[in-house]
Amino acid sequence: MKIVKTIKELRHLLPEGESKNKTVGFVPTMGALHRGHSSLVQRCSRECGVTVASIFVNPTQFNDKTDLARYPRSLEADVQLLQATGCDVVFAPDEKEIYPQPDTRLFDFGLLEKVMEGERRKGHFNGVAQVVSRLLDAVKPDCAYFGEKDFQQIAVVSEMVRQLGLPVEIVRCPIVREPDGLAMSSRNALLSPDQRAAAPLIAKTLFAAVDKVCSVDLPALKQFVASAINANEHLRLDYFEVVCARTLQPVASLDDDCAKQACIAVYAGEVRLIDNVRLA
Ligand code: PAJ
Repeated sequence: MKIVKTIKELRHLLPEGESKNKTVGFVPTMGALHRGHSSLVQRCSRECGVTVASIFVNPTQFNDKTDLARYPRSLEADVQLLQATGCDVVFAPDEKEIYPQPDTRLFDFGLLEKVMEGERRKGHFNGVAQVVSRLLDAVKPDCAYFGEKDFQQIAVVSEMVRQLGLPVEIVRCPIVREPDGLAMSSRNALLSPDQRAAAPLIAKTLFAAVDKVCSVDLPALKQFVASAINANEHLRLDYFEVVCARTLQPVASLDDDCAKQACIAVYAGEVRLIDNVRLA
Protein backbone atom coordinates (compact mmCIF):
# COMPACT_ATOMS: atom_id res chain seq x y z
CA MET A 1 0.00 0.00 0.00
CA LYS A 2 1.30 3.45 -0.96
CA ILE A 3 0.66 6.60 1.08
CA VAL A 4 0.75 9.90 -0.79
CA LYS A 5 0.15 13.49 0.27
CA THR A 6 0.01 15.35 -3.02
CA ILE A 7 -2.21 15.23 -6.09
CA LYS A 8 0.91 15.06 -8.26
CA GLU A 9 2.13 11.85 -6.54
CA LEU A 10 -1.39 10.45 -6.75
CA ARG A 11 -1.67 11.06 -10.51
CA HIS A 12 1.73 9.48 -10.99
CA LEU A 13 0.54 6.27 -9.29
CA LEU A 14 -2.92 5.90 -10.81
CA PRO A 15 -3.85 4.63 -14.26
CA GLU A 16 -5.55 7.18 -16.50
CA GLY A 17 -6.98 7.72 -19.98
CA GLU A 18 -6.22 5.53 -23.00
CA SER A 19 -3.62 3.34 -21.30
CA LYS A 20 -5.92 2.60 -18.36
CA ASN A 21 -6.25 -1.14 -17.83
CA LYS A 22 -7.81 -1.19 -14.33
CA THR A 23 -10.90 0.37 -12.85
CA VAL A 24 -10.22 2.83 -10.04
CA GLY A 25 -12.45 2.75 -6.96
CA PHE A 26 -12.44 5.49 -4.34
CA VAL A 27 -13.50 5.69 -0.68
CA PRO A 28 -13.39 9.25 0.72
CA THR A 29 -13.13 9.46 4.53
CA MET A 30 -12.25 11.84 7.33
CA GLY A 31 -10.22 9.15 9.15
CA ALA A 32 -10.78 7.79 12.67
CA LEU A 33 -11.68 4.69 10.74
CA HIS A 34 -13.92 1.87 11.95
CA ARG A 35 -15.64 -1.20 10.48
CA GLY A 36 -18.16 1.01 8.68
CA HIS A 37 -15.33 2.52 6.67
CA SER A 38 -13.59 -0.81 6.16
CA SER A 39 -16.80 -2.33 4.73
CA LEU A 40 -16.65 0.35 2.01
CA VAL A 41 -12.96 -0.32 1.34
CA GLN A 42 -13.52 -4.09 1.20
CA ARG A 43 -16.39 -3.72 -1.25
CA CYS A 44 -14.36 -1.31 -3.35
CA SER A 45 -11.39 -3.66 -3.52
CA ARG A 46 -13.67 -6.57 -4.52
CA GLU A 47 -15.21 -4.54 -7.33
CA CYS A 48 -12.31 -2.40 -8.61
CA GLY A 49 -8.78 -3.00 -9.88
CA VAL A 50 -7.25 -0.26 -7.73
CA THR A 51 -8.66 0.96 -4.41
CA VAL A 52 -7.89 4.48 -3.24
CA ALA A 53 -8.98 5.82 0.16
CA SER A 54 -8.57 9.42 1.25
CA ILE A 55 -8.15 10.71 4.78
CA PHE A 56 -8.88 14.41 5.08
CA VAL A 57 -10.79 16.19 7.83
CA ASN A 58 -12.47 18.78 5.66
CA PRO A 59 -12.79 22.13 7.48
CA THR A 60 -15.36 23.57 5.05
CA GLN A 61 -18.06 21.06 6.03
CA PHE A 62 -17.91 21.80 9.76
CA ASN A 63 -20.51 24.41 10.62
CA ASP A 64 -19.40 24.13 14.26
CA LYS A 65 -15.70 24.91 14.84
CA THR A 66 -15.53 23.04 18.18
CA ASP A 67 -16.82 19.95 16.37
CA LEU A 68 -13.88 20.35 13.96
CA ALA A 69 -11.38 20.87 16.78
CA ARG A 70 -12.43 17.76 18.68
CA TYR A 71 -12.97 15.53 15.62
CA PRO A 72 -10.99 12.33 16.40
CA ARG A 73 -7.73 11.87 14.48
CA SER A 74 -5.77 8.59 14.35
CA LEU A 75 -3.66 8.47 11.18
CA GLU A 76 -1.38 5.60 12.22
CA ALA A 77 -4.20 3.25 13.21
CA ASP A 78 -6.12 4.30 10.09
CA VAL A 79 -3.22 3.37 7.83
CA GLN A 80 -2.97 -0.04 9.49
CA LEU A 81 -6.69 -0.69 9.07
CA LEU A 82 -6.58 0.35 5.41
CA GLN A 83 -3.59 -1.90 4.80
CA ALA A 84 -5.49 -4.84 6.33
CA THR A 85 -8.64 -4.24 4.26
CA GLY A 86 -7.16 -4.26 0.77
CA CYS A 87 -6.56 -0.58 0.11
CA ASP A 88 -3.85 0.09 -2.50
CA VAL A 89 -3.35 3.84 -2.18
CA VAL A 90 -3.99 6.21 0.74
CA PHE A 91 -4.33 9.87 -0.17
CA ALA A 92 -3.76 11.95 2.98
CA PRO A 93 -3.39 15.56 1.82
CA ASP A 94 -2.99 18.61 4.00
CA GLU A 95 -5.35 21.56 3.79
CA LYS A 96 -3.21 23.57 1.34
CA GLU A 97 -3.17 20.68 -1.11
CA ILE A 98 -6.96 20.54 -1.28
CA TYR A 99 -7.57 24.28 -0.89
CA PRO A 100 -4.59 26.22 -2.30
CA GLN A 101 -7.08 29.10 -2.33
CA PRO A 102 -10.33 29.26 -0.38
CA ASP A 103 -13.13 27.46 -2.23
CA THR A 104 -15.85 30.04 -2.78
CA ARG A 105 -18.15 27.86 -4.89
CA LEU A 106 -21.78 27.82 -3.82
CA PHE A 107 -23.80 24.80 -4.86
CA ASP A 108 -27.56 24.75 -5.11
CA PHE A 109 -29.11 21.43 -4.20
CA GLY A 110 -32.63 22.82 -3.95
CA LEU A 111 -35.00 21.01 -1.62
CA LEU A 112 -32.46 18.22 -0.98
CA GLU A 113 -30.51 20.48 1.37
CA LYS A 114 -33.48 22.23 2.95
CA VAL A 115 -34.32 19.34 5.29
CA MET A 116 -32.74 17.40 8.16
CA GLU A 117 -28.92 17.79 8.22
CA GLY A 118 -28.99 20.52 5.57
CA GLU A 119 -31.52 22.58 7.49
CA ARG A 120 -29.70 22.25 10.81
CA ARG A 121 -26.06 22.34 9.70
CA LYS A 122 -25.94 25.45 7.48
CA GLY A 123 -23.25 25.19 4.83
CA HIS A 124 -22.43 21.58 5.70
CA PHE A 125 -23.43 20.04 2.37
CA ASN A 126 -21.85 22.89 0.42
CA GLY A 127 -18.58 21.98 2.16
CA VAL A 128 -19.10 18.28 1.46
CA ALA A 129 -19.70 19.07 -2.23
CA GLN A 130 -16.59 21.27 -2.37
CA VAL A 131 -14.30 18.62 -0.95
CA VAL A 132 -15.84 15.61 -2.73
CA SER A 133 -15.66 17.39 -6.11
CA ARG A 134 -11.99 18.22 -5.48
CA LEU A 135 -11.19 14.69 -4.34
CA LEU A 136 -12.99 13.18 -7.35
CA ASP A 137 -11.03 15.51 -9.60
CA ALA A 138 -7.76 14.39 -7.96
CA VAL A 139 -8.46 10.64 -7.94
CA LYS A 140 -10.59 10.43 -11.14
CA PRO A 141 -12.25 7.18 -10.01
CA ASP A 142 -14.70 5.06 -12.02
CA CYS A 143 -16.67 4.33 -8.84
CA ALA A 144 -16.88 6.11 -5.48
CA TYR A 145 -18.26 4.36 -2.38
CA PHE A 146 -20.47 6.05 0.21
CA GLY A 147 -22.25 4.70 3.30
CA GLU A 148 -26.01 4.93 3.85
CA LYS A 149 -25.24 5.99 7.42
CA ASP A 150 -25.08 9.46 5.86
CA PHE A 151 -28.22 9.00 3.81
CA GLN A 152 -28.68 12.65 2.85
CA GLN A 153 -24.98 12.97 1.94
CA ILE A 154 -25.38 10.28 -0.75
CA ALA A 155 -28.32 12.17 -2.26
CA VAL A 156 -26.38 15.45 -2.26
CA VAL A 157 -23.20 13.90 -3.70
CA SER A 158 -25.23 12.12 -6.43
CA GLU A 159 -26.89 15.43 -7.31
CA MET A 160 -23.50 17.19 -7.39
CA VAL A 161 -22.10 14.51 -9.71
CA ARG A 162 -25.15 14.99 -11.94
CA GLN A 163 -24.85 18.79 -11.96
CA LEU A 164 -21.10 18.74 -12.74
CA GLY A 165 -21.48 15.88 -15.25
CA LEU A 166 -18.70 13.87 -13.58
CA PRO A 167 -17.97 10.42 -15.08
CA VAL A 168 -18.19 8.49 -11.80
CA GLU A 169 -20.65 5.95 -10.45
CA ILE A 170 -21.76 6.56 -6.85
CA VAL A 171 -22.07 3.23 -5.04
CA ARG A 172 -24.21 3.12 -1.88
CA CYS A 173 -23.24 0.73 0.91
CA PRO A 174 -25.35 -0.44 3.89
CA ILE A 175 -24.90 0.81 7.47
CA VAL A 176 -22.53 -1.23 9.63
CA ARG A 177 -23.60 -1.46 13.28
CA GLU A 178 -22.05 -2.38 16.62
CA PRO A 179 -23.34 -5.68 18.08
CA ASP A 180 -25.77 -3.64 20.23
CA GLY A 181 -27.22 -1.93 17.12
CA LEU A 182 -25.51 1.46 17.40
CA ALA A 183 -24.52 2.68 13.92
CA MET A 184 -20.72 2.83 13.78
CA SER A 185 -19.42 6.39 13.71
CA SER A 186 -16.12 8.14 14.34
CA ARG A 187 -18.02 10.32 16.82
CA ASN A 188 -18.90 7.28 18.99
CA ALA A 189 -15.35 7.57 20.36
CA LEU A 190 -16.34 10.92 21.91
CA LEU A 191 -19.16 9.43 24.02
CA SER A 192 -18.79 9.10 27.81
CA PRO A 193 -19.44 5.60 29.21
CA ASP A 194 -23.00 6.65 30.21
CA GLN A 195 -23.72 8.16 26.81
CA ARG A 196 -22.28 5.10 25.06
CA ALA A 197 -24.53 2.84 27.16
CA ALA A 198 -27.57 4.98 26.22
CA ALA A 199 -26.79 5.34 22.50
CA PRO A 200 -28.07 1.90 21.29
CA LEU A 201 -31.56 3.18 22.17
CA ILE A 202 -31.40 5.23 18.96
CA ALA A 203 -31.27 2.19 16.66
CA LYS A 204 -33.59 0.23 18.94
CA THR A 205 -36.19 2.99 18.63
CA LEU A 206 -35.81 3.14 14.84
CA PHE A 207 -36.32 -0.62 14.59
CA ALA A 208 -39.36 -0.38 16.86
CA ALA A 209 -40.70 2.34 14.53
CA VAL A 210 -40.35 -0.10 11.61
CA ASP A 211 -42.47 -2.61 13.54
CA LYS A 212 -45.12 0.00 14.29
CA VAL A 213 -45.43 1.52 10.85
CA CYS A 214 -48.50 -0.49 9.81
CA SER A 215 -50.44 0.08 13.02
CA VAL A 216 -50.04 3.82 13.79
CA ASP A 217 -50.25 7.14 11.91
CA LEU A 218 -47.37 9.58 11.36
CA PRO A 219 -48.04 11.88 14.36
CA ALA A 220 -48.27 8.83 16.66
CA LEU A 221 -45.05 7.40 15.24
CA LYS A 222 -43.25 10.73 15.80
CA GLN A 223 -44.63 10.93 19.32
CA PHE A 224 -43.48 7.38 20.06
CA VAL A 225 -39.93 8.10 18.89
CA ALA A 226 -39.66 11.44 20.72
CA SER A 227 -40.87 9.92 24.01
CA ALA A 228 -38.64 6.86 23.74
CA ILE A 229 -35.48 8.92 23.08
CA ASN A 230 -36.17 11.79 25.47
CA ALA A 231 -37.06 9.36 28.29
CA ASN A 232 -33.34 8.60 28.50
CA GLU A 233 -31.52 11.27 30.52
CA HIS A 234 -28.40 11.02 28.33
CA LEU A 235 -30.19 11.55 25.00
CA ARG A 236 -32.07 14.44 23.43
CA LEU A 237 -33.95 14.14 20.14
CA ASP A 238 -32.91 16.69 17.51
CA TYR A 239 -35.24 15.43 14.78
CA PHE A 240 -37.07 12.36 13.59
CA GLU A 241 -38.35 12.55 10.00
CA VAL A 242 -40.03 10.13 7.68
CA VAL A 243 -38.97 11.11 4.17
CA CYS A 244 -39.30 9.87 0.63
CA ALA A 245 -36.04 7.94 0.12
CA ARG A 246 -35.50 9.51 -3.34
CA THR A 247 -36.41 13.18 -2.82
CA LEU A 248 -35.72 13.29 0.96
CA GLN A 249 -38.86 15.37 1.40
CA PRO A 250 -40.98 14.60 4.49
CA VAL A 251 -44.00 12.44 3.66
CA ALA A 252 -47.44 13.77 4.55
CA SER A 253 -48.67 10.37 5.68
CA LEU A 254 -47.34 6.86 6.27
CA ASP A 255 -49.71 5.77 3.49
CA ASP A 256 -47.66 7.68 0.85
CA ASP A 257 -46.65 5.08 -1.67
CA CYS A 258 -42.99 6.18 -2.10
CA ALA A 259 -40.15 4.19 -0.53
CA LYS A 260 -39.87 5.74 2.93
CA GLN A 261 -36.77 6.31 5.05
CA ALA A 262 -36.95 7.10 8.76
CA CYS A 263 -34.07 9.44 9.68
CA ILE A 264 -33.04 10.52 13.16
CA ALA A 265 -30.53 12.85 14.82
CA VAL A 266 -29.94 12.69 18.56
CA TYR A 267 -27.68 14.61 20.92
CA ALA A 268 -25.79 12.65 23.54
CA GLY A 269 -24.37 15.59 25.49
CA GLU A 270 -22.53 17.64 22.85
CA VAL A 271 -22.12 14.70 20.49
CA ARG A 272 -24.60 14.52 17.64
CA LEU A 273 -25.44 11.04 16.34
CA ILE A 274 -27.44 10.22 13.20
CA ASP A 275 -29.02 7.02 11.97
CA ASN A 276 -31.69 5.89 9.50
CA VAL A 277 -33.65 2.87 8.41
CA ARG A 278 -35.93 1.90 5.48
CA LEU A 279 -39.53 2.01 6.67
CA ALA A 280 -41.46 0.28 3.91
P1 PAJ B 1 -16.71 9.97 7.22
O1 PAJ B 1 -17.67 10.35 8.28
O2 PAJ B 1 -15.31 9.60 7.61
O3 PAJ B 1 -17.34 8.78 6.41
C1 PAJ B 1 -16.70 8.27 5.26
C2 PAJ B 1 -17.66 7.30 4.60
O4 PAJ B 1 -17.92 6.20 5.48
C3 PAJ B 1 -19.03 7.96 4.30
O5 PAJ B 1 -19.48 7.55 3.03
C4 PAJ B 1 -19.89 7.40 5.42
O6 PAJ B 1 -21.27 7.35 5.09
C5 PAJ B 1 -19.31 6.02 5.59
N1 PAJ B 1 -19.68 5.46 6.90
C6 PAJ B 1 -19.49 6.02 8.12
N2 PAJ B 1 -20.00 5.24 9.08
C7 PAJ B 1 -20.56 4.17 8.46
C8 PAJ B 1 -21.26 3.00 8.91
N3 PAJ B 1 -21.51 2.79 10.19
N4 PAJ B 1 -21.67 2.11 7.97
C9 PAJ B 1 -21.43 2.33 6.66
N5 PAJ B 1 -20.77 3.40 6.17
C10 PAJ B 1 -20.34 4.30 7.06
O7 PAJ B 1 -18.68 11.18 5.33
C11 PAJ B 1 -17.59 11.71 5.44
O8 PAJ B 1 -16.56 11.17 6.15
C12 PAJ B 1 -17.25 13.03 4.78
O9 PAJ B 1 -18.41 13.82 4.70
C13 PAJ B 1 -16.62 12.85 3.37
C14 PAJ B 1 -17.57 12.18 2.39
C15 PAJ B 1 -15.30 12.08 3.47
C16 PAJ B 1 -16.29 14.27 2.80
O10 PAJ B 1 -15.42 14.96 3.65
